[in-house]
Amino acid sequence: MTDSTKLKLYIETYGCQMNVSDSEIVVSILENKGYEVTEDINNADTILVNTCSIRENAEQRVWGRLDVFKQIKKKKPETIVGVIGCMAERLKEKLLEEEKIVDLVVGPDAYRDLPNLLETIESGHKAINVLLSKEETYADISPVRLDKNRISAFVSIMRGCNNMCSYCIVPYVRGGERSRDPQSIVREVEDLFAKGYKEVTLLGQNVDSYIWNKGNETVKFNQLLEMVAKVNPQLRVRFSTSHPKDMSDDVLYTMAMYNNICNHIHLPAQSGSTRVLEKMNRKYTREWYEGRINAIKKILPDCAISTDIMTGFPGETDDDHKDTLSLMEWVNYDIAYMFKYSERPKTYASRHLKDDVPNSVKSARLTEIIDLQNKLSEKSKKDDLGKTFEVLVEGVSKKSKDHLFGRNSQNKVVVFPKHNYKVGDYVFVEIVDCTSATLIGDIAV
Ligand code: SAH
Ligand code: SF4
Ligand code: F3S
Repeated sequence: MTDSTKLKLYIETYGCQMNVSDSEIVVSILENKGYEVTEDINNADTILVNTCSIRENAEQRVWGRLDVFKQIKKKKPETIVGVIGCMAERLKEKLLEEEKIVDLVVGPDAYRDLPNLLETIESGHKAINVLLSKEETYADISPVRLDKNRISAFVSIMRGCNNMCSYCIVPYVRGGERSRDPQSIVREVEDLFAKGYKEVTLLGQNVDSYIWNKGNETVKFNQLLEMVAKVNPQLRVRFSTSHPKDMSDDVLYTMAMYNNICNHIHLPAQSGSTRVLEKMNRKYTREWYEGRINAIKKILPDCAISTDIMTGFPGETDDDHKDTLSLMEWVNYDIAYMFKYSERPKTYASRHLKDDVPNSVKSARLTEIIDLQNKLSEKSKKDDLGKTFEVLVEGVSKKSKDHLFGRNSQNKVVVFPKHNYKVGDYVFVEIVDCTSATLIGDIAV
């Protein structure tokens, strides 16, 4: 139902889960000021694009979208176009100067100012706020959930990053790390469960360094995880991203203690070469990383492990590349996200290290990495044949209305016959087959 008295907001989100979560905060802030979300861009009074700067091609996509918004503004000049998020923070005024159709530029820590900024624009001016904050966590704002299934939600537990990996733009566009009040996190999770949600994913760039100090009380990530897991055993808990240098056995033991904390860890390796890792300023060696994997395999034998791999970092040799391939095989990742190094302005690498791996070499290495991961992912699925998993149903299969899909604790997608089950149910499914992307099962008896 749309309300004709309300201003219409159209919002588009790029980048990581953090941005997805931020868009829900932005909508919450603007709904309180009389806006209503529309899915029809042509009907919007305000178009916001929440942007990502992690790689050059992430920004290219946004420039492409701005060209599309230009056409809309031609037809309806009163439409307000705003760029928010990481690219807004990186480019600041330049966005207003270079792209005439942009009226509004807002960085990730300035969303509370959106209503004021929009008022400024209504009086005929352009508006910008890209101040970063040491404290802002939006702890008191209840995000308006934009997901379609009403089953799983993101909950931001911290913002920013202090790590300064030499290739990474995040600390520059998101500011320093700060953790959110654990009570506000637990309240948000309780509220989600009361509304029927069955799964939460706790978000931070480095969840293992979550820390809350108040008086003489300290809450660390493993304690927060436990507090959230205790909200209800019927609520699944996931988290992302773990950092190899900080992921402690305490977190693994907490995961082992609670059935509803899912058996999946995303542990980005970036490279298998200690030499490259050092230049990346990741602060761990290959041996340390392998030690963390051994700990996961020992404490959580059924845990799925995923990773991020970056290829073609400055100075990466064929031998370094082979080290990455051998690490991937050794770990046996279930899933990997794989990228070509993209030089980002301001970062240590862009200032001190020459982007000297030719693009053709980056591409060839990326292809090898992807081919290897395809084999590993296939193997990971084949290993599941005959096993029974508890699946949380998320929706009807795209390919057949007689089948449902959901994910198991390991975060793998499982498709199975519908029977009388519905979205939000937990169902035990025995895996009988698999395709390249999914496990196929039958109801377990
Ligand atoms: N905080 C997370 C990562 C966030 S960015 C962590 O530390 O793991 C997500 C992924 O993007 C990174 O893991 C990395 O693999 C990739 N990435 C970051 N900067 C990049 C760059 N300049 N070029 C290519 N890939 C990059
Ligand atoms: Fe970027 Fe490193 Fe921080 Fe991850 S931990 S966001 S890669 S600086
Ligand atoms: Fe991109 Fe910003 Fe996330 S740069 S990856 S949207 S923190």
